[in-house]
Amino acid sequence: IPVAAVIPAAGRGVRLGPGAPKALRALNGTPMLIHALRALAASRHVSLVVVVAPPDGTAEVKSLLDVHALPERTDFLVVPGGDSRQESVRLGLDALPPEYGIVLVHDAARPLVPVDTVDAVIEAVREGAPAVVPALPLADTVKEVEPAAVPGDPEPVVATPVRARLRAVQTPQGFDRETLVRAHETVTEDVTDDASMVEQLGLGVVTVPGHEEAFKVTRPLDLVLAEAVLARRRL
Ligand code: C5P
Repeated sequence: IPVAAVIPAAGRGVRLGPGAPKALRALNGTPMLIHALRALAASRHVSLVVVVAPPDGTAEVKSLLDVHALPERTDFLVVPGGDSRQESVRLGLDALPPEYGIVLVHDAARPLVPVDTVDAVIEAVREGAPAVVPALPLADTVKEVEPAAVPGDPEPVVATPVRARLRAVQTPQGFDRETLVRAHETVTEDVTDDASMVEQLGLGVVTVPGHEEAFKVTRPLDLVLAEAVLARRRL
């Protein structure tokens, strides 16, 4: 079954501070999006990558794909994104040719995911799981709170879920294509990952081991960490 990947890269990246859309910011001189594309295309199973660009940035993204070296056996498409990550993913799915039966959805903001993680996700979908997420145990204990009206005010703690049962999930998340399309047609409320939409359909979502280097570049400190990881890889 041919595998395609959708990369939502249309976010502004407000938490990273002022500047270009997050996916276009450089890590060691190369845009985050290009790192993410190479990370997915490193898998010999991925034959198409659809980049969902900022609506006013498709031309810029297309020219980036022209100037940076990318593997020749992989096809690339660029489509404009939407107001939410969810809408951007749906627009990416709409652009997929019919032959792709397995879809990965990968954040441009996780530029350093190792190929072994990508392949583990694909393998688990091929073995029959409708949805697969890379997941890691948590270092921090997590509290559920009653969110304060004013940010920074003390917040009452409501519950402490047992940490050993919690996982932080990453991308790429992998899907049986029909299942993911149906999830996007059915679930209308806001979600923070694609797999939760499949959970809402009542279908089984499973985890495979994630990887530390698949962390999401969200805040300024994450840029420092990402550049350090790249420097270490070059050694
Ligand atoms: O904001 P967050 O870190 O959750 O964004 C995750 C990914 O979703 C990023 O790669 C971002 O570019 C993408 N996104 C998008 N369209 C939006 C908002 C976010 O493609 N409207």
